[in-house]
Amino acid sequence: KPFRRLLLTGAAGNLGRQLRAALAHWAETVRVTDIASLGQAAAHEEAVQANLADREAVHRLLQDVDAVVHLGGISVDAPFDDLLEANIRGTYNLYAAAHKHGVKRVVFASSNHAIGFHPVTEVLDADSPLRPDCLYGVTKCFGESLSRYYFDRFGIETVCLRIGSSFEEPKNPRMMVTYLSYRDFIELVRCSLFTNRVGHAIVYGASDNAVKWWDNTKASFLGFRPKDSSQQFAERFPPSAPTADRDDPAQRFQGGAFVIGEPMERA
Ligand code: NAI
Repeated sequence: KPFRRLLLTGAAGNLGRQLRAALAHWAETVRVTDIASLGQAAAHEEAVQANLADREAVHRLLQDVDAVVHLGGISVDAPFDDLLEANIRGTYNLYAAAHKHGVKRVVFASSNHAIGFHPVTEVLDADSPLRPDCLYGVTKCFGESLSRYYFDRFGIETVCLRIGSSFEEPKNPRMMVTYLSYRDFIELVRCSLFTNRVGHAIVYGASDNAVKWWDNTKASFLGFRPKDSSQQFAERFPPSAPTADRDDPAQRFQGGAFVIGEPMERA
């Protein structure tokens, strides 16, 4: 197998659970971690329940790993104090520990919400400016900048995956554009781990959907070719008429309803 040991954060989550089986083929040992219960560890797995905000725990997680798939963190908008711990402190701890332990490759789950305030009429690529649509999106911009710094300064390579909507199926018309099938998500992670010399790369995670907001030409060296498309769900969400409500911010911007949220306070 190509890797001796891989670390998967967020392994108990929606995408982490999808990836666990695939990683078995790529590494002798997969260290799976999450703040939530990880269930039964498979024979090739080491399960470690830990909070990414816990610096010592994260340093232990990074010992003796070849590469990291970093999915752990809060995956929706949330109060700043919660995002600060999970996404900002957590991602910082991960990179500081990667540097200390000589880990040279990270696949970072960024998000379309890092660029959600671009209008739906624009096609973006890897050089489009960040326009986060909520505080959660701001934390993903932090992760992208942090990983850029750790590459320029220390040579730790990162592929930032600006994941669209990776769920079983699209849940609304917007997700017809942003849909990323689980199979294509796994393939995107595979390309990000196995391509030599990725430097610091930005790639959008969408399947081969009929309508596209994102152009991956600048990440073509990754060799990512999505096999699925949201078209199989077209009956449920027919293309909206050209009269679609342009005054509704949730329809004008790529981030959808996230753009009309407000910064949340802890209860
Ligand atoms: P998820 O919410 O199902 O999984 C995230 C996991 O991180 C959870 O199991 C949670 O327990 C864990 N976590 C949260 N805070 C933690 C902490 N302080 N320490 C350790 N673990 C912690 O989300 P999902 O869908 O699996 O997404 C995975 C990653 O991809 C996330 O970073 C998310 O922001 C990103 N993403 C996902 C998209 C999607 O469509 N599924 C879209 C864009 C980005």
